Amino acid sequence: MADRGHVTIGTAGQLRGTIAVPGDKSVTHRALMFNALATGDARITGFLDAEDTRATLAAMRALGVDIDEPDPGTLIVHGRGRAALTEPDDVIDCGNSGTTMRLLAGLLAGLPMQAVLTGDDSLRTRPMGRIVRPLTALGADVTARAGGTLPPIVIHGGPIAGGLRVETGVASGQVKSAVLLAALAADGETLVIEPDPTRDHTERMLAAMGVNVQSEGPAITLTPPNGDLRAIDVSVPGDISGAAAFIVAATVHPDAELTLTGVGINPTRSGLLDVLQEMGADIELLEGRLTGGEPVADIVVRSSRLRGVEVGGALIPRMIDELPLIALAASVAEGETVVRDAEELRVKESDRVATTGAVLRAFGVAIEERTDGFVVQGAGSPQLRAARVDSAGDHRLAMLAGVAATLADGESGIDGANAVNVSYPEFWDELSRLALPPTDGV
Ligand code: S3P
Repeated sequence: MADRGHVTIGTAGQLRGTIAVPGDKSVTHRALMFNALATGDARITGFLDAEDTRATLAAMRALGVDIDEPDPGTLIVHGRGRAALTEPDDVIDCGNSGTTMRLLAGLLAGLPMQAVLTGDDSLRTRPMGRIVRPLTALGADVTARAGGTLPPIVIHGGPIAGGLRVETGVASGQVKSAVLLAALAADGETLVIEPDPTRDHTERMLAAMGVNVQSEGPAITLTPPNGDLRAIDVSVPGDISGAAAFIVAATVHPDAELTLTGVGINPTRSGLLDVLQEMGADIELLEGRLTGGEPVADIVVRSSRLRGVEVGGALIPRMIDELPLIALAASVAEGETVVRDAEELRVKESDRVATTGAVLRAFGVAIEERTDGFVVQGAGSPQLRAARVDSAGDHRLAMLAGVAATLADGESGIDGANAVNVSYPEFWDELSRLALPPTDGV
């Protein structure tokens, strides 16, 4: 069995310093896939170099796309148009990456070839009916194991019907993007409706590549281009979902000031900042700018006194990957925090309602699981006890445990620490660089 990794972390006396978080995972996947469909050479800088995005890189190479890596942090995609993509001569392994599998299924649905997509033990338990259904409604031949619900997925790509209206039924940026990628190959316009708006990186990037894609709240209309997409250079913003661990770490720690540089603050992703600010967090956004059509800022976060909050509705998709960290922030807040409408947490890399509960309870947090979220009784100050916990193979849970450990009253141990490699391979090094040991020998 692969080494799952183990780290030990002691109490942090202070959290201080500046961090350039890795490139955004969602934007990196899209920059690779969309430029592979385009014509022209595209330079992708500041990309996330991690296992999930490497799965997408390998998948695009398996479809015959030439991709160079001239130096660390830079990729050059040599797009020769959709017609130049070739049938993969083996099953495509998406590893742990739901984004790779779901977006790729949409991309392949309209290509004249057969492909099989599989993944690791976690990905093969994740729901795929949510893409099989809408892609089938567009006329694609997409099937999956267990009655069309689980990977592997088999795609016999072919013509996609235009002029259709597709309801995704679930607020998921991955499902929406899969439908939009299939719609690129349709013979007319496609209207996609989501229950609530989700991350819009796909729409922004396709528009920059010359596609007519119009959004009005949760309704998106895409008109397929006459020819191929236009290749574009992408300077990938820092990943707010990776930054989130340090943002929450600094907020909850009694002696902290961290600066995070170049973080993507796309409003469809920045729900964490809104909720933490509502809880009373001291968060300052500096130097707003646009990077490749995405808003970016430097963020300064300082120790804060927090109060409990209610989170639900349209906020949930704007911070879906950050909700486990909100539970930790809630544990040091004054009063109760309720997270609802977040049943999607149950179908992530782990069941994040259950795993967040298990990890935080081990640290002494009063957290109660609900079908669609959780309720946390805040202690009013950091009072975590040292614990030994397991990431359940989930990167977000490993990072949550790492941050909790900096607050705990002794040395904590985290099993399955290597889970961070899918999205933030430098996470443990960064945490130990910024977390300074207590000076009073505690
Ligand atoms: C992603 C969308 C989200 C998120 C995932 C990345 C994307 O998943 O959890 O980490 O890049 O579109 P859902 O779309 O399933 O909510």
